[in-house]
Amino acid sequence: MSNKVATKNDQRPNGVPRHVAVIMDGNGRWAKLRSLPRHAGHRSGVQAVRNTVEHAAKCGISVLTLFAFSSENWRRPQDEVGRLMKLFLEALQREVDELHRNRVRLRFIGARQQLNEGLIDKIHAAELRTQANDGLTLNIAVAYGGRWDIVEAARKLAEKVASKKMSVSDLNEDVFASHLALAGLPDPDLLIRTGGEQRISNFLLWNLAYSELWFCDSLWPDFSTADFDEALSHFAHRQRRYGHTDDQVGVA
Ligand code: FPP
Repeated sequence: MSNKVATKNDQRPNGVPRHVAVIMDGNGRWAKLRSLPRHAGHRSGVQAVRNTVEHAAKCGISVLTLFAFSSENWRRPQDEVGRLMKLFLEALQREVDELHRNRVRLRFIGARQQLNEGLIDKIHAAELRTQANDGLTLNIAVAYGGRWDIVEAARKLAEKVASKKMSVSDLNEDVFASHLALAGLPDPDLLIRTGGEQRISNFLLWNLAYSELWFCDSLWPDFSTADFDEALSHFAHRQRRYGHTDDQVGVA
């Protein structure tokens, strides 16, 4: 429990969250409203990703985690999935130089073995190239599911126990968390979901346990720095208690 106790140090002094996670929803509806194919919405969503990354870095956020493609998104029409994969590859090729120049550390989380070889290679190269950067850590969740993440951690732990590298009595929350995809990073302080739906959709199920939630109606391609600022301002006024009382966290 030690790392879960709320103190005023849990947030940065000016109320800026350390870690923001985002469910980018609404690309398809954005396109439909304009009588465009769904992939036009995804394409337009790339610009919103760029603006959001830039704004996160500017605001002093340390970690940004974006949900780009879920374990369940494989069920979409093959054409849409193919176009999305192509979009990820193109965005990676186009953006990695600038991300690196801006000291962004890029990481991908998810079942990457399910992706095509070309994309896996580019992801690996981008991660290697940016791994020593000390600016914003940008996690892109692709082929990611919260349940997948938890099962993978359980599998790794079971393997360690079976090979006697660890004993069952060593298992606790911190050890479990250190086997998840976001191991070593603070849990998200704030989750933003665009597109008007209010659900978690199998995103970071373990890591979102204490996150503040912010839902906004803007469709992802329309998500602006003003929307982002509104979410941040809302977060700055939230009191995080982690099970404690008002008095224990020292807030009048
Ligand atoms: C959800 O909207 C969005 C996605 C499944 C894809 C997200 C991808 C991008 C924003 C493109 C670029 C990303 C990166 C990281 C370069 P939806 O299609 O479910 O929208 P709908 O709910 O309106 O149908």
